[in-house]
Formats: sequence, C-alpha cells, structure tokens
Amino acid sequence: MTVTLEKSVQDFISTPRQLFIGGQWVDAASGRTFATPNPATGDTLAHIAEADREDVDRAVRAARAAFEEGPWSRMTASERGRIIWRIGDLIEQYGDELAQLESLDNGKPYAVARAADIPLAAELFRYMAGWATKIEGNTISLSVPYMPGSEFHAYTLREPIGVVAQIIPWNFPLLMAAWKLGPALTTGNTVILKPAEQTPLSALRLAEIMAEAGLPDGVVNVLPGYGETAGAALAAHDGVDKVAFTGSTEVGKLIVQAAAGNLKKVSLELGGKSPNVVFDDVDPALAIPGAANAIFFNHGQCCVAGSRLFVHESRFDEVVGGVADIARGIKLGSGLDPETQMGPLVSDEQFRRVTGYLESGRAEGARTVAGGQRHGDRGYFVQPTVITDTTPDMSIVREEIFGPVVVASPFSSLDELAAQANDTAYGLGAGIWTRDVNKAHALAKRLRAGTVWINCYNVFDAALPFGGYKQSGWGREMGHEVLEAYTEVKAVCTQLHP
Ligand code: NAI
Ligand code: MG
Repeated sequence: MTVTLEKSVQDFISTPRQLFIGGQWVDAASGRTFATPNPATGDTLAHIAEADREDVDRAVRAARAAFEEGPWSRMTASERGRIIWRIGDLIEQYGDELAQLESLDNGKPYAVARAADIPLAAELFRYMAGWATKIEGNTISLSVPYMPGSEFHAYTLREPIGVVAQIIPWNFPLLMAAWKLGPALTTGNTVILKPAEQTPLSALRLAEIMAEAGLPDGVVNVLPGYGETAGAALAAHDGVDKVAFTGSTEVGKLIVQAAAGNLKKVSLELGGKSPNVVFDDVDPALAIPGAANAIFFNHGQCCVAGSRLFVHESRFDEVVGGVADIARGIKLGSGLDPETQMGPLVSDEQFRRVTGYLESGRAEGARTVAGGQRHGDRGYFVQPTVITDTTPDMSIVREEIFGPVVVASPFSSLDELAAQANDTAYGLGAGIWTRDVNKAHALAKRLRAGTVWINCYNVFDAALPFGGYKQSGWGREMGHEVLEAYTEVKAVCTQLHP
C-alpha cells in the first residue's frame, strides 16, 4: 500500500520545472538543469532548471523593480495582508498535493508532512498577514541640550529593507520557505528565494500558489540551484539589501563574508547540538517518548534535534533503555507508505555524513545500544541510533550529526549538568523534563539556547520566536521579533517654528 499520487503531482514532477523570475517561468540562462532524486530509491524524481549568476542578476533586477516601481510598494498594508492570508488559505487548500511533493522530494512520511509541515506553513502566513497593518513607529520627545527653547516633532517610520535574498535548507522545504517569506512580505520587502538543491519542488509549487493568491510579479522570485553557485552569487550580490540564511554553521560563516561587500544585512539560523535533560522525578511515560521524539522527529534532520540526552544517573538505564526500545521499534520505509514512521535521509551526501559519524563513534570507543547501521540496501535509510559511553571531546558529542542519532550521558548534580549542557559551540534548543517547577525554570535560565522546552519538545508556533545563541545564528525568526530583521527604522525630526 502506498499513498496514491494526485494527478497534479504526477504532472508537476513529470514536466521539467523552470525558474520563476518577474512572474514568468523561464529556463536558466545557461540552459542547464539538474535532477532531484527520490531519497527512498535514489532514482531521479524530477528535472529542474539550474539557476546561476546570470539568473541571479535577472531575479535581483525583477525584485528591485517590484520594490521600487511595482504595485507592491503602492498597495495598502491591508491589501498586502489579505494576499498573504490568501497564500495561507491556498496552502491549506492544496495541502494533500503539497504534502505529497514534500514526501517525495524530502523523504519524510506523507502523514507527517500533512499533519505538521503543511498546516504550520499555512498558519505562518496567516500569523504574518495580521502584522501587515500593525507595523508602527513611535513619536519621540526631544530635549536637545544645545538648542534651548526649541520645539520638535519627531517620529520613527519602520520601513522595508528592500530586496531580500533568502537561502533555505531541505529539512522542512515548504515550512522554511514560509518562515522566510511570511515576515519579508508582511513588512513590504521583495524576495529572491533559493530553495535547497535537494528539495526544490514545493517552493516552485508555492510560487504558483503565491501568484494565484494575487502576489504581484517580481515580489517573490524562486531560483532553484546549487549553493556554491546561485547561493553564493545571491549572498555576494550588490543589488541585494539583506540575506537571510538557514543551513549549516559552516556556510553561515561564508554568507557573512560574502555579505561584507556591500554590508547587506544578515540573519542566520544555523546548526545545533541541543541538550535534552531528564531529571530523576519524571514520569517515564512522558519523558521516554518525549526524549525519543526530540531526536527522531524528521529523522533527526532538525536544527533543534535533542541530540545530546542527559539523564539523571538514578534513572539513566531506565530512560536510555526506553528510548532504545522505541528506536528499535520505529518502522522505516518510503514516505508514501502509510505504515512508515521514519523515511530515508534526504540525500546520499547526508547518508554518508551520518554513517560516517556512526563509524567515528565506534572507532572512538562509544557504545551503540540501538541501531548504528544502514537500514536496507536501497535509498538513504539509517537506523534510529542510541549511543552511550561517550566522552565530551568525541566528534559525535561535539558536532551536529543531523540524523537519527542521540548520544546519552548521565549526570548527578544541577551544576554539573548546566556546565555540560552549555559545553557546545551551539545554542539553538534545549529540553527539560521534570515535575519540579523550581528546577525547570532555574535550569531554563542557565541554558544558553534560543528555545527551551519544558516537558515537551519540537513545539513550534508562528507566534513563538525561534533562533540561536552562540554559533546557532543571528536574529530570530517568527513571533514579532522577526519583524525587526526585515525592517529599517527611520528617525524623522522636524523643528517647529511657530
Ligand atoms: P548547507 O548549509 O550547505 O545548505 C543549506 C543551503 O545553503 C542550501 O540552499 C544550499 O544550496 C545553500 N548553500 C550551500 N553553500 C552555499 C554558499 N557557499 N553560499 C550560499 N548558499 C550556500 O547544508 P547541507 O550541505 O545541505 O548540510 C550540511 C549540514 O548542515 C547538515 O549535516 C546539518 O548539520 C547542517 N544543516 C543545518 C540546517 C538547519 O536547519 N540549521 C539545515 C540543513 C543543514
Ligand atoms: Mg553544503
């Protein structure tokens, strides 16, 4: 049994897909295309036009024209908000189709995409639609010391930054597009979006949906292509006023360097190695499945994955044994098989990276208590894996694996635990499992992380700001915090001469 693909999905993947520039579907200037593989089989799923420098130039020009001259900049905030709301409605309307594309391209189970990725993307646009009419400045009282007796009327305007390049990863392809586009649009910017080369399909379908919702030509341009070419050209482009990036910390640093040419604004959502802490007073019926979900959700391909599990020594064997039992019971398979609980990793590159970490862990002397191997002999499947007996310097403890692999270690005191949990270059997420509110909030305060979940994990909402401390990034996505990343503040000062 597999999910039957909608005809629209079959048509979408059987036709070579083009670039979306200035409201038109066009081939790449070079004429080149690339293949996006089906990660469950390794076979080619679809052919996509491959954007490069010249296409980036054209898309930047289209976005600039839409920003400076187009109807977008003359539209009322209410009209802008209504278009963004309609994008959310259409995502919901086309939810089955989008979830199928997501499952095919990324490998994640269709049911998960349908229940999580798609509605979260729709809700993100709706949440951001409401902000369009609520972007405000202030009036400010001045007391200029060297101008005694003078009177002023001073205020601030919050304005769009301009042309924004957005470079996104493959782990939640549609949702990452939504996180990026929603705030950029509600604040009145125009965008060039580069989806990940592994998963371009849902962003291309989203371009059609945005046009159907009434988004004017050139406001969002979508350029599938590779990071080293199209992505690098966008990050360096002098016609781009801001670049927003989600992906590896390594590439985040390259983006910062590339952005230095014209000092474009930069926001970054990068890697993580998030601690998930289980205290001695927990209800195992909550904490064990909670700790398993923290790492195994989305096959561990989450920037916030709870990949370092810390369990109080008195409950270590019970909790880690429970997580290992869950790991062994997870059913792997194609994302389109309704029985599947975990699909393949997204690509051969990720498969080799993750299995490489499993080998290095073994070589360094860590103990694999569940999983640890490839699953099957076709596609990019890796067994859900639980590892113990690690030391803090091992690469599997320090580096982001981005696969279904958790390292577990015991702790005895809160002080020791806080130091261990913060012993990382990253600071994206953290989890705390306890019935004791004092412990929970005392630790939440000490953890250097942008999100702390207490007695839950992987809870996302368009209203909750998300982002990283330390090398996990710059700035926040979602919530009202993200609006600052897409606006400039202008101070206007008038002297009154009555
Ligand atoms: P990546 O950081 O290379 O790719 C993410 C995006 O950046 C893609 O759209 C890619 O085309 C683009 N990109 C790559 N090089 C670029 C460059 N020089 N200039 C501009 N754009 C560029 O991540 P990759 O290679 O897919 O995965 C490697 C590791 O990165 C993963 O194992 C994981 O640890 C981490 N990662 C973290 C993510 C997160 O959500 N924070 C998402 C994806 C990957
Ligand atoms: Mg890369």
